[in-house]
Amino acid sequence: MSTLLHVDSSVRGTNNPNPDHDSISKNIARRFIDTWQENRPEDEYIYRDVGVNPPAFITQEWIGAVFTPVENRTPAQQETLALSDTLIAEVSAADVLVISSPMYNYGMPAQLKAWFDQIVRIGKTFDFDLERGDFPLQPLLSGKTLIIVTSSGEFGFEKGGIREESGHLVPHLRTLSKYLGVDTIYEISAEYQEFGDERHRVSVANAKERAERLASELSLSGQALSSRNEVTDA
Ligand SMILES: Cc1cc2nc3c(=O)[nH]c(=O)nc-3n(C[C@H](O)[C@H](O)[C@H](O)COP(=O)(O)O)c2cc1C
Repeated sequence: MSTLLHVDSSVRGTNNPNPDHDSISKNIARRFIDTWQENRPEDEYIYRDVGVNPPAFITQEWIGAVFTPVENRTPAQQETLALSDTLIAEVSAADVLVISSPMYNYGMPAQLKAWFDQIVRIGKTFDFDLERGDFPLQPLLSGKTLIIVTSSGEFGFEKGGIREESGHLVPHLRTLSKYLGVDTIYEISAEYQEFGDERHRVSVANAKERAERLASELSLSGQALSSRNEVTDA
C-alpha cells in the first residue's frame, strides 16, 4: 500500500453551476487521482484544498516556537505549531504528491505559499549546519514523487517559451519540492485559459489525457510507491 497526498490550491471549485467557472487545475488533478484510485483502491489518500481552506500564515510566535527546543515548548507554543505538525506528517507519510496550482500573478496562490511556509521547517523537513559551507540547508525527507499540475491564462512559461522570464510558478514549486523530500517530478500544464480558443481546448484535453496516462503508468508500474519517511520530534 502507498499513500497519495493531493493538494489543490485554486480558489475555484471543481464543479460549479456554470461549468465555465470550474477550476481547470483541480479537474486535471482529479483525473489523475481518479485513475490512480481505479488501479489502486487500497492506497491511502489524503486531500487538502488549501485554495478553499487556506492554512494560517506563519507569525513571529510561530518562528519563536520553532526555534524553542521541543522539551521547553509551552502548551501555547505547541498549539501554535499544531497545524504545521499535521501538515508535515501528511507530507512525510506520502509516497506520491499531487499539487495542483493556478498561476496567480505569475506565481503560486498565496494560499499554497502559506502551506509551504507551514511545512518547510527547521528540524522537521530540513536541518541547518554551517559546516556545509555555502549550502547549510539539507532536506530531511526523501524518495517522493511529485506531480505538478498547473493552469494559466496566458502561455509560453516553459523553458524557451515566449514568457519564460515571467514563469515563476513551476520553478518555485521545483525549488521548494526538495524540502518535501521529492526526487522525481512530473509536470502537467494547461494554458491559454484567457484566450478561450481552440488552443485552450486542446491544451486542457492534452493535460487531462497526460494526467490519466501518467497515473496509469505510475500506479501500475510500482514506481514511486514506497518512500514513507520518519519525521523526528524537533
Ligand atoms: C487573481 C488571478 C491572477 C491571475 N494571474 C495570472 C497570471 O499572472 N498569468 C496567467 O497566465 N494567468 C493568470 N490568471 C489566470 C489563471 O491562471 C487561469 O484562470 C487558471 O485557469 C486558473 O486556474 P483554475 O482554473 O484552476 O482556477 C490569473 C487569474 C486570477 C484569478
